[in-house]
Amino acid sequence: MDNLISPHGGDLIDLLVDEDHIAEMREASRDWPSVDLGPRQLCDLELLINGGYSPLTGFMGSGDHAAVCSRMHLADGTLWPLPVTLDVADEVAEGLSEGDRLALRDPEGVMLAVLRVGEVWQPDREAEVRAIFGTNDRSHPGVAQHLHRAKVWSVAGPVEGIQTPVHHDYRELRLTPRELRHKFTRLGWRRVMAFQTHRTIHRAAQSMMVEAARDADANLLIHPIVGLSQPGDADHYTRIRCYQALMPHYPKFMARLNLLPMAPRGGGPREAVLQAIVHKNHGCTHFMVDFDGAGSVLDTTGSPVYGAEETAEIFAEHADELGMEFVKPREMVYLEDRKSYVPADTVPADGRVLRINADEVRRRLDDGREIPDWYTYPAVARELHRTHPTRGAQGFTVFFTGLSGSGKSTIANALRVKLLEIGGRGVTLLDGDLVRANLSSELGFSKQHRDLNIRRIGFVAAEITRAGGVAICAPIAPYNVVRREVREMVEPCGGFVLVHVSTPLDVCEIRDRKGMYAKARAGIIKEFTGISDPYEAPADAHVVIDTSDVTPAEATREVLLHLERQGFISARDEG
Ligand code: PPS
Repeated sequence: MDNLISPHGGDLIDLLVDEDHIAEMREASRDWPSVDLGPRQLCDLELLINGGYSPLTGFMGSGDHAAVCSRMHLADGTLWPLPVTLDVADEVAEGLSEGDRLALRDPEGVMLAVLRVGEVWQPDREAEVRAIFGTNDRSHPGVAQHLHRAKVWSVAGPVEGIQTPVHHDYRELRLTPRELRHKFTRLGWRRVMAFQTHRTIHRAAQSMMVEAARDADANLLIHPIVGLSQPGDADHYTRIRCYQALMPHYPKFMARLNLLPMAPRGGGPREAVLQAIVHKNHGCTHFMVDFDGAGSVLDTTGSPVYGAEETAEIFAEHADELGMEFVKPREMVYLEDRKSYVPADTVPADGRVLRINADEVRRRLDDGREIPDWYTYPAVARELHRTHPTRGAQGFTVFFTGLSGSGKSTIANALRVKLLEIGGRGVTLLDGDLVRANLSSELGFSKQHRDLNIRRIGFVAAEITRAGGVAICAPIAPYNVVRREVREMVEPCGGFVLVHVSTPLDVCEIRDRKGMYAKARAGIIKEFTGISDPYEAPADAHVVIDTSDVTPAEATREVLLHLERQGFISARDEG
């Protein structure tokens, strides 16, 4: 371990141990229990090891947790806004006692660090969510998600770092706090404003930060959060390439780009304080966050998380301890007559302002239309066009849901034929029976098994969609929640169309093609959908087809029309 005094006064504590000690630890670790860390835990560990979380020297125990949740300080009185705990499964917790060594590994089994167990304890999750989100109301999506993810047990203790998690992407943009501080010293940057974002930066945000940096007489560190990006996540690479394309457009010698391996928690202003501490440890003196123009900071999905006002207040309250200045974001708009960006609150009454929102950008990319130069630099627009094919070139999934005998398979088969006739994309049919015979042969019809079956279909459909193909799925898929999960899996990869084949139960039962309804009524088949098992009709279907009174050809046409309206196929294709 080694301390470094930052040019701005804060000590940097990184947790890497020396080579000899690493060899000893590797040798001894054969007898130690170990845990494989998840993506969020890896982010926390990386920031502990590289000093981004200074002055923390390990994962928190009950004393620090309680103090942080209730008073926003560690037990020793140091400002610290959010818990940093290491949650483990019950079986791991059961086998651990104080003084044990626990090897912390990445998913490939590489030992990254060793934790000396100080305490095995059960965090108060209610206090935790209140601290993170400012509420413990379950209807808050962050609260629900956090509680769902949280485990019962945590392990606390000091950490000895062997190596930081391995990243193969953009290594030259992943400077550690120590490396960045050295770089700033070499460059003679004494005042550095960190700009933190999860989104692509366009000209409005760029002009906002440049203006703010000039006002603060500071240089700029573009420090996007990339902690939860996975190696296969194409959007991650696009985003970074867009930042790279933007860099030449900053005033000379003003800005640098670096990637921050931090996981967003979706929390309130306390999260901003944590981020500020991390940026400070990276050598920054000022902190600015991305912003939606209406006064809120944005999370990964672009949803507003916390208000700029509240954040400014919490920073003001702790200004001395924090030693970081929060720079309030200020909305910038493009004034057409001046051909430049100006603060929104300075636009003259007769000024013509041009605006495009993120949805419009997405629509333009889908349709292959131009994104204007005043909105983003041509190099950034080119990068976006290059990685977002138009809808006509994207893959998509058509997901049918409906009762047994409703006509899903018939329409799905006809749709497959029509799409093959149109050509241009490979088409894969994942019919209910087909999947059950191949992918899910060991599964029955309990809710748990049905959900697993649908998740598997969703996974395959997402991969096909990502590769530019068409997946046609036709299971019963009786439950809303898992249908939504499939949608969330597929949508980032391309198009998703939910078709509800809404043929009523009595019609399906009269048809009874496979004789199953009769058996279900007689109690021979248990848990039969519609008879002795539920079917939740979707409220979010894009197309609803009742086959009682339409032919398969008409039904197929409905789906094709929808695909055409969405731009996935063209009217000419459809013939
Ligand atoms: S699910 O709920 O989505 O996992 O079901 P799925 O994989 O589509 O399988 C439905 C087909 O399995 C036959 N089958 C049953 N369906 C419903 N409930 C029970 N208990 C059941 N047992 C067997 C049935 O023939 C379904 O085929 P389709 O093509 O839908 O008629």
